[in-house]
Amino acid sequence: MSLERTFSIIKPDATRRNLTGKINAKFEAAGLRIVAQKRIQMTKAQAESFYGVHAERPFFDELCEFMCSEPVIVQVLEGEGAISRNREVMGATNPVDAAEGTIRAEFAESVGENSVHGSDAPETAAEEIAYFFSGLELIG
Ligand code: RTP
Ligand code: MG
Repeated sequence: MSLERTFSIIKPDATRRNLTGKINAKFEAAGLRIVAQKRIQMTKAQAESFYGVHAERPFFDELCEFMCSEPVIVQVLEGEGAISRNREVMGATNPVDAAEGTIRAEFAESVGENSVHGSDAPETAAEEIAYFFSGLELIG
């Protein structure tokens, strides 16, 4: 396992309920360091571009409307095997299936409004970090 970086979003259902600190505590307890973080509100076009791989899925429009409905926290998390470790801490997409103690088991409201996004592979992590953060915002 090597030191990796992954991209994370704390989604509108969680920022609305003031859960940023509780979710960040879960990341830190799992050995993930928050190395960059900012609060933004996406435009519909930015959400559609970010979730472009899901463009043909029936939930695409609902997902993009949700993601730009309120501010989100975009983050870069660093740690040993950060991409898979973050997916473990997040839990399954549908909170009904998420393991006990995971973020989605504790906080997600539904399969769509599921509190966090995390990159699923090294290529998507690199692309997603570069989509939201400039080199100046990322320390070494
Ligand atoms: P994410 O990309 O947000 O980290 O989530 P994921 O990998 O666990 O799930 P993915 O299959 O990539 O789906 C992306 C997001 O779309 C919403 N979704 N809604 N209504 C539905 O059936 C449905 N299925 C997926 C969720 O917000 C999911 O996280
Ligand atoms: Mg995904």
